[in-house]
Amino acid sequence: MGKASIGGPFSLVDTQGKRVSSEDFAGKYLLVYFGFTHCPDICPTELHILSQVTQALGAKKAAWDELIQPLFISIDPARDTPALIRSYLREFDPRIVGLTGTPAEVEAAAKKYKVFVYSLQDAASKSDDYILDHSIFIYLIGPDGKYIAHYGYDKTAAYIIDDVASYLPAEWYEFWL
Ligand code: NI
Repeated sequence: MGKASIGGPFSLVDTQGKRVSSEDFAGKYLLVYFGFTHCPDICPTELHILSQVTQALGAKKAAWDELIQPLFISIDPARDTPALIRSYLREFDPRIVGLTGTPAEVEAAAKKYKVFVYSLQDAASKSDDYILDHSIFIYLIGPDGKYIAHYGYDKTAAYIIDDVASYLPAEWYEFWL
């Protein structure tokens, strides 16, 4: 994956139904994860890791909220309403901001992050009980909106915590030593 080509501006809706864009998070380090609330096990596992990272980094700095923002972006706007994402994220960490949007908006955001989504729904079926197969990465984006790193399914919370901390400005990094 080419570093320069991952990430970029987005316009989505938060769990209160409010329109938000990447500009609203300018100046913060973002931890971005794409998934969906009906995901049977991968997304819960990754969101648990994202919660552990959030808690570990947040516990060590009072001003954490001004520095780092975890985001969960739904790739299933047909089922993931703002209210459903809000209640889903309560099982994880309240600091994770949930985002969704129109199918076109979600697709545009996923494309910028090179997130691939495949519906495993039988094309002939009208069932609402479908699974989406999707790429699994937590992305670290810098305060300038530029890509820094990504973490695959094989990375533990401990690995991600250390790696994210290593990219923070020196005056912040010392708090994690
Ligand atoms: Ni998933």
